[in-house]
Amino acid sequence: MTVYRGNPDAVRALVQPDRVHRDLYINQELFELEQEHFFANTWNYAGHDSQIPNTGDYLTVDIAGQPLIVVRHSDGSVRVMMNRCSHKGSRLVSEPCGNTGKFFRCPYHAWTFKTDGSMLGIPLRAGYEGTALRETEAWQGLVTVPNVRLHRGFIFVRLSAEGPGFEEYFGDSLSSIDNMADRSPEGQLEIAGGCLRFVHQCNWKMFVENLNDTMHPMVAHESSAGTAKAMWAGQPADAPKPMAIEQFVPFASDYRFFDDMGVRVFANGHSFSGVHFSIHSKYSALPDYDAAMQAAYGPERAAQILGLTRHNTVYYPNLTIKGAIQAIRVVRPIAADRTIIESWTFRLKGAPPELLQRTTTYSRLINSPFSVVGHDDLHAYRGIQIGLKASGNDWISLHRNYDPSEIGQRDLTVNGTSEISMRNQYQAWLRYMTATL
Ligand code: FES
Ligand SMILES: [Fe+2]
Repeated sequence: MTVYRGNPDAVRALVQPDRVHRDLYINQELFELEQEHFFANTWNYAGHDSQIPNTGDYLTVDIAGQPLIVVRHSDGSVRVMMNRCSHKGSRLVSEPCGNTGKFFRCPYHAWTFKTDGSMLGIPLRAGYEGTALRETEAWQGLVTVPNVRLHRGFIFVRLSAEGPGFEEYFGDSLSSIDNMADRSPEGQLEIAGGCLRFVHQCNWKMFVENLNDTMHPMVAHESSAGTAKAMWAGQPADAPKPMAIEQFVPFASDYRFFDDMGVRVFANGHSFSGVHFSIHSKYSALPDYDAAMQAAYGPERAAQILGLTRHNTVYYPNLTIKGAIQAIRVVRPIAADRTIIESWTFRLKGAPPELLQRTTTYSRLINSPFSVVGHDDLHAYRGIQIGLKASGNDWISLHRNYDPSEIGQRDLTVNGTSEISMRNQYQAWLRYMTATL
């Protein structure tokens, strides 16, 4: 078996422009190297501003294998730090979210830290007189993450000290987040309800690749979306369509539909499908919402905002969004063959309640652990995870519509069924993985 640690040439050999090696999905050593290098070198989504509105509100999250606390500091800013006490290393907070008040208090020996990570107090401080404590990291308090950026309330972090700036990394792909926020008459999003967490027995990359894989819906979702389509067939054109039918049926569209949707790729692995239209384009109009949007933006700008109905946008590597439906899925890698997918839904501030109902219905039917459509995908991922153990062919084909001139382009739109988004992800994977190997 190939050893990858300390062997960057072996890692480079895994990615060719039009095919990749199966070890990328099944090798645990590579998974650990990915955590240390690839995830640490890229910008990752940590959470949303609206989850921590008040001073002392926090959430915890693991990124690049590192336990982090994201907290609202007393000056209103969002701070990110390691969830690790500077005394003997205890995790400071164990809940997924909460309010810590003015400071964090370690549950082991009660050292306390302000919400910017600085040291606040130590019990029996006199015992440290004459010791070297003040010259060590312990006295500095919590280790903070300096590279934190908010974009329309989305909190991103980059753990490595060196690396691309935020705008440089995401470029024009940020227009999908902008469009999702602009869909609020107030231009603001708010996380609504809790999180649906769904364990996927597959490598994280299978999920991310699938988001712009438009060759699979008409096949993998035949049993779910195809059944909905068959049930609805023959209904008169003016029959009121149940929301579930409206959301299921487009998944059963043909190759031509998905090809014509178009896919756009950006530097650093980001992409979205649905450049020209998408499975969300034909949802029924919501007159109260349209009126609120027109009042807020004027008819022309409102039509422009609502006219963008992008399908999935991938913010490589760990955030995927559906702006047109106000839902996101966040990728939390656990092991080479295990990934948690988090599904979150948003309320558009200032929009009527039908919008949130549409979002939550979609999440329940398509993305949740008890969904109908999402299990088709999960079945496919598990099938790949098992199939890739077979010997005799080490390679995964990404050849569809490959054109050598696409390599290195920063912004490119092509036909929707191209596998360009996956090739583009791997170019980024290789760059950030090998930057510090
Ligand atoms: S480990 Fe935190 S106070 Fe001792
Ligand atoms: Fe799917």
